[in-house]
Amino acid sequence: MDWGMKNRTSKVIRPRDGRCVMLAVDHGYFLGPTEGLEVPSKTIRPLLSYADSLMVTRGVLRTSVNPSTDVPIVLRVSGGSSIVGEDLSNEIITNSVEDAIRLNAICLALSIFVGSKYEHQTLSSLAKLVDEGEKYGIPILAVTAVGKEMSRDARYLSLACRVAAELGAHVVKTYYCENFEKVVEGCPLPIIIAGGKKLSKESDVLELAYNAIRKGASGVDMGRNIWQSDCPVAMIKALRAIVHKDSDVKEAHDILLKEKNRESNSIKL
Ligand code: R5P
Repeated sequence: MDWGMKNRTSKVIRPRDGRCVMLAVDHGYFLGPTEGLEVPSKTIRPLLSYADSLMVTRGVLRTSVNPSTDVPIVLRVSGGSSIVGEDLSNEIITNSVEDAIRLNAICLALSIFVGSKYEHQTLSSLAKLVDEGEKYGIPILAVTAVGKEMSRDARYLSLACRVAAELGAHVVKTYYCENFEKVVEGCPLPIIIAGGKKLSKESDVLELAYNAIRKGASGVDMGRNIWQSDCPVAMIKALRAIVHKDSDVKEAHDILLKEKNRESNSIKL
């Protein structure tokens, strides 16, 4: 691995502890102005300083993130279908690597839809993007997207993560599941987990992150469970404690409550 690739990868997974808290705000690329992310700049601004990196599309990056930020940018470069379209898995590469470099991206993210109608297309895109990334020393984050008819179990997620690794991705994002350690065991790359749809209890989000880390995940790449929560800053701080300080669920929940109280007191003042 050359210096540029190593340097950029170290901004995704921090070498200090081998972990990462990536803030995902790329959802609009297929969901439109989804709840909590209607005005991306408003969602991103208070959270940015707590993120190790920001996962975003070029459109939101250009319009809604201050270019003086020192938070590394993970650029989503796949898309082409929306939630009301024919098939979400029909994704292509939507961004040239040259433009990603102009935007100073340190990593490129692309979804693969293993088992879907467009499996071959999305896997070919991954292989192509890996070749492009290798040319310029930019790591690739493979997002193991799960189609409606696919189950998020260890068997399926192990398959998707392993395929991504074999095709040359550098980091994989997947979902937490029962027997998650099997997914980790079968994938020679760092795995980070998405949060998925908003969970009703905050403690369930913390438990999900805690269990994933305990079973070998290198961190989280979370969106909705942070910025759809009543107190997004409190949630990201609590998640940071789990990922970077090995806090347990109770310790992280205490951090969350403390931050919530602090915020509500400062509103009253
Ligand atoms: C899909 O919309 C994106 O790749 C998201 O970045 C990913 O699903 C993580 O976000 P969430 O925690 O909301 O699932």
